[in-house]
Amino acid sequence: MTDKLENITACVFDAYGTLFDVNAAAAHCADDLGDKWQPLAEVWRNKQLQYTWLRSLMRRHVDFWQVTTDALDYALDTMGVSDAALRQKLLDLYMQLDAYDEVKDVLTTLKDAGLKTAILSNGSPDMLASAVRNAGLDDVLDVSLSVEDVGIYKPDPLVYQMVIDHFSIAPEAVSFQSSNAWDAAGAATFGFRVVWVNRFGQAPERLPDQPDFEVKTLAALPAIVGLSV
Ligand code: 2OP
Repeated sequence: MTDKLENITACVFDAYGTLFDVNAAAAHCADDLGDKWQPLAEVWRNKQLQYTWLRSLMRRHVDFWQVTTDALDYALDTMGVSDAALRQKLLDLYMQLDAYDEVKDVLTTLKDAGLKTAILSNGSPDMLASAVRNAGLDDVLDVSLSVEDVGIYKPDPLVYQMVIDHFSIAPEAVSFQSSNAWDAAGAATFGFRVVWVNRFGQAPERLPDQPDFEVKTLAALPAIVGLSV
C-alpha cells in the first residue's frame, strides 16, 4: 500500500454514509422510537441498498427516493411501528441528513488546493440538492452526479463512468471516497484510486478489488492526495 496518491485532479465522494449520516433521521426520532431507533435505522439502510441491487438486476429502476420510501415502509412494518406522522417526519429528515463533522473543512481544503470535487451517488437529484444545501456544501462541490442520469444503481460501471464523462479525465486521476465497502470495490474495479472511509469498523469485503487506503474519517484525505496540511 503506497503512502499517498499521485496526480489526483478530482476527489469524488459517495453521499449516504460518507458525507451524510444515514442514521441521523432515525436518531433525531429517538424520542418517538425509544430503543427501536437503531434497529429501525439498520433495517431501513440495509433494505434500501438491497432494493437498489435487486431493481438493477431485475431491470426495474425507480429513483432513490422511491427506494428509500419503500425501504422505510418495510422497516416500520418489521419493527411493528404504524404511525403516519412519524413516517413523514422520518422522510422529511432524510432530505436534510446531517453531514459528518469533518466534511466541510476537508472539502474546503481540497477546493482551496485547486482540486475538482464532486458527489457520485445513488441519490436522486432532488435528494442530493437538498442534502448539499442543508449542509452548506454548495460552494465546496463542483457537481452532484446522480445515477438517475444512467438509470442503474452502483456498482454498475456506467455510474462511475459519469465522472470521466463530466470532468474529461482518466480514472487514475480520480480519488473516490466511500464508507460503503461494496461501493469502494466497484470504484476500484472501474479503475479509480479508492479511499474506503471505514466509519463503522467493518471487516473488508471479499470482492474482486480492494481500496488503496482505509481510513476512519475523511480528515486523512488531504494528506493522502498529497496536500501539505
Ligand atoms: C450513495 O450512493 C451508496 O447510498 C450510497 O450515496
